[in-house]
Formats: sequence, structure tokens, C-alpha cells
Amino acid sequence: SHRPLILAIESSCDETAAAIVDGSGELAADVVASQIDFHARFGGVVPEIASRKHIEAVCGVCDECFDRAAQALSIPRLTWHDLDAVAVTYAPGLVGALVVGVAFAKGAAWAADKPFIGVHHLEGHLYANKIGAPDFAPPAVVSLVSGGNTLLVHMKDWGDYETLGATIDDAVGEAFDKVAKALGLGYPGGPAISREAARGDASAIPFPRAMMHSGDLRFSLSGLKTAVVTHINNERAAGHELNVPDICASFQQAVVDVQVKKAETALRQTGARTFCLGGGVAANPVLRAAYEKLCGRLGVRLIMPPLSACGDNAGMIALVALDRFADQRFYDLDADAHAHADL
Ligand code: KG4
Repeated sequence: SHRPLILAIESSCDETAAAIVDGSGELAADVVASQIDFHARFGGVVPEIASRKHIEAVCGVCDECFDRAAQALSIPRLTWHDLDAVAVTYAPGLVGALVVGVAFAKGAAWAADKPFIGVHHLEGHLYANKIGAPDFAPPAVVSLVSGGNTLLVHMKDWGDYETLGATIDDAVGEAFDKVAKALGLGYPGGPAISREAARGDASAIPFPRAMMHSGDLRFSLSGLKTAVVTHINNERAAGHELNVPDICASFQQAVVDVQVKKAETALRQTGARTFCLGGGVAANPVLRAAYEKLCGRLGVRLIMPPLSACGDNAGMIALVALDRFADQRFYDLDADAHAHADL
């Protein structure tokens, strides 16, 4: 038997996602519908649009998830009644986006009379390491870098996490998006900047490495963003043509240098022998190469989940839910969505 079968829903930002995990931890289906095209023309995620698009997408995404899971499990059909539990991301994120998934999941759990499980989005990102590396186990240091989050987590054990440090202002992905916007490169900015940067000189412009030597594991990105915007304005005022590849490469290198330095400090502080990545910025090739070098030098195992698992997805939420189910830790149906919640 495949039991338990758990369906998880994720709607914390601009991805509507559903996944079904079976008792062995195998993802029978893992469906993601991105809204990115609807937000691109506004240069960022518009919360109100995100909520509405989740409402439009969530039924279809779940239907597709049931279809694919039935196929993967070689059974004719799968419905809510065949599940053992319904799980959902309850925090943190855009609260109006979260609330769509939470209300839908609670409704489904109630109607089908199944246990309901709430999952913290960032715990999902920690579990995402299992998707590419099934033998992954704590202790580990995990760097989460996305459009909304920038933090280093010490995963001491399953369920035992310490946030070692986080950004005090912008997230890394946000900085990429803002710099891209200033350069007219469109949204999302990360991929555009890394493309441009590949043709540029990373040492051309000495942008600040904020908090590089602060001695702690916090980050600050807003000063770097301002430095880049100031550089752009100065160049334009002086009548110079912008060297976009050099700006992108120098900005990117400033980000990567700090990320790598803090990762090394975190690894030394904790003694962890495994380092993992999560979040959309983990797609950045220069960042990945720098971590390969760092972990090679320190003799630390590096786990970089596939890009589909780094970004928001419901598979990682389902994997957390499977552990909650094993402990029979269920949530009441009056559980709510929260914009903020500690890991
Ligand atoms: O995890 P994610 O898909 O969801 C949000 O947090 O919204 O992360 C998206 C973020 C965006 O800010 C995007 O610009 C950034 O990840 N990103 C990158 C790259 N690809 C995506 N940043 C740097 N380099 C990349 N190659």
C-alpha cells in the first residue's frame, strides 16, 4: 500500500502548487502553476493579483495533481476521499495569498473528513533538500535566498532549527530585482542579471560588501542596491554609456562574496558537515560555483536541490506533512494564515 497519502498545497507568494506524497516519501505528483507572467509587467509581485490568481488556479492545480498521482500510483482515480490528510503552508508569506490555500485546504479537509496539517514555508525549504538527495539528514547549515527571504539556518535535527542570521532589510532576490529594474532588465531580475554578468568584469566596480566583517550572520542588501542605483545615476549624469555587464557582474560578485563569507562562518560556528541551498536565488550559477569551491575547501558536503525544488513548490510542504502525520500532529480547523512566524 502507498499509505499514508497526503496532499499539500502551497500559495505563499506567486506560485499555486499542489503535491501528493506517499508513505515512502515519494512524490506521486508535484504540480506548480506560476503566476509570474501576470506580475512581470508591474515589475514585482502584486499581492492583490497573487490572491486572485490563487483562487482561479487552486482547483485546477489540485485536479491535475490527483490525475498525475493516480497515474504514478497506477490506480484508476484519486480523490480527496482517498487521502489520509490535507496539508497547507500557513506562514510566512503574503497573507492574502496564504489565506487562499489555507481556506481551500481546510474546506477540503473538513468536507472529506481528513486530518489537517499546517506547515511553515521555511521548514518546507529545509525539507526540499530531500527532493534531490533522499539521504539528506541534519545536522546541516542551510542558506535560504529568495525574493522574500535571506537567512542562514542551523538544522540541528528534524524539527530543531536555529536561525543563525537573516537580512535586516532587503532579501537577496529583491536586490537582484531592484537592480534589474534600475537597469531596465525586466522582472524577475535574477536570471537577467546573471545573464548580463556572464559577459562582464566582476572587479570593474567596487560595490560595498555590507556587513561582510560584522562578525555576525546577519545580512544587509539595501545599501548595495542604493550603491548600484547611485552608480547608474552618476554614470548617466556624466553622459557615460552604461556598461551593463560590468555593473551586473560587480553587483553579483558583491552579493556572492558576502553570502560565501557568512556561510563559511556558519559552518565553522556550528561544526556542521553539510551545507544546503534553497530559494530562487540558488539558481545563480556564480553563487553555486562559489559554494562548490567553499565546500570543497572545507571538506563539507554540498547539497544543491534541483532548481524546481529550490523555488516554491508543494512537494517540500508534503514532505514536512508526512513527518507531522507520523507523529499524528494535526491542526485544528480554526488555524489561520500568518504573514510572519518564526521557524
Ligand atoms: O524562491 P523564489 O522563486 O520565490 C520568491 O521568493 O518570490 O525566488 C525568486 C527570486 C527572485 O527575486 C529572482 O530574481 C531570484 O529569485 N532569482 C535569481 C536567479 N534566478 C532567480 N537571483 C539571482 N540569480 C539568478 N540566476
